[in-house]
Amino acid sequence: MTVIASASRMPEGMTLKVRNIKFELSEQLSRDWLDNDPFKTAFFNALSMTFPDGERFFIDSVRHYEGEVKDTKLKAEMSKFFGQEGMHSREHRAYNKALCDLRGYNQEKMERRTKYMVRLAKQKMSPVGHLAATCGVEHITAIFADKILNGWMLGDVDPQMRSLWEWHSAEELEHKSVAMDVYNHVSGDYKIRKMTLQAFTVHFLINLLANTGYMLRKDRKLWQWSTLKSGFGFLFGKGGVLREFRGDYLMYFNIEFHPWDDDNRHLLDRWQAGQDA
Ligand SMILES: [Fe+2]
Ligand SMILES: [Fe+2]
Repeated sequence: MTVIASASRMPEGMTLKVRNIKFELSEQLSRDWLDNDPFKTAFFNALSMTFPDGERFFIDSVRHYEGEVKDTKLKAEMSKFFGQEGMHSREHRAYNKALCDLRGYNQEKMERRTKYMVRLAKQKMSPVGHLAATCGVEHITAIFADKILNGWMLGDVDPQMRSLWEWHSAEELEHKSVAMDVYNHVSGDYKIRKMTLQAFTVHFLINLLANTGYMLRKDRKLWQWSTLKSGFGFLFGKGGVLREFRGDYLMYFNIEFHPWDDDNRHLLDRWQAGQDA
């Protein structure tokens, strides 16, 4: 096992804050809240479906190494990371339940895909693998967070919905280096980190698209030309996921990669200023 330098590499002066915020979203979730677009709405709803179990897995993967981290700064960040992910899990659990109750979706069927991924990871991988996978998915989450706080997709949606996604995004940016700093402290193995991101990206995409397709099928909108056109544009078009995410995603495959190589604290400052106003 490669052991490299310990300690947090979060920028000096940054602090993590656990914000206990509750959202009431039933009115918004009953309709296609994102630009009145069934595909985009279903995709973001599918993203929400992955959070409760996914974030529980992240917490468990990092908590496993709590005893090995002696660095007080990193220890304090880990504790806030657990708090933030716990709050996200709680709010997305409520979101998912409200969504499924309102629209007649099978919540268990959709959340089963993430549960399966977590179960498989726990059966087949070591604790280091779990932590590496957490680093990888946290990287993807941090890219979403960066884009959302830059106004991507959600710039013009219902204020309450935007508020939930921006709150989650801000905290994802704040804690984006915590799992990686723990990983570098206990292992730092590049090959495991690279392979777990590749594997989890494939499974994550299948999970998202399967649940997006399920919701659209249930709403009888899947095979409409407008839905297919929107879906293609959302995934492959200008401003779509592939083109927007590709560059940031590939940064992870640099052997020296660290989440704060992309210093986007200005997005956090701008979001916080909006909260304080
Ligand atoms: Fe989160
Ligand atoms: Fe996170």
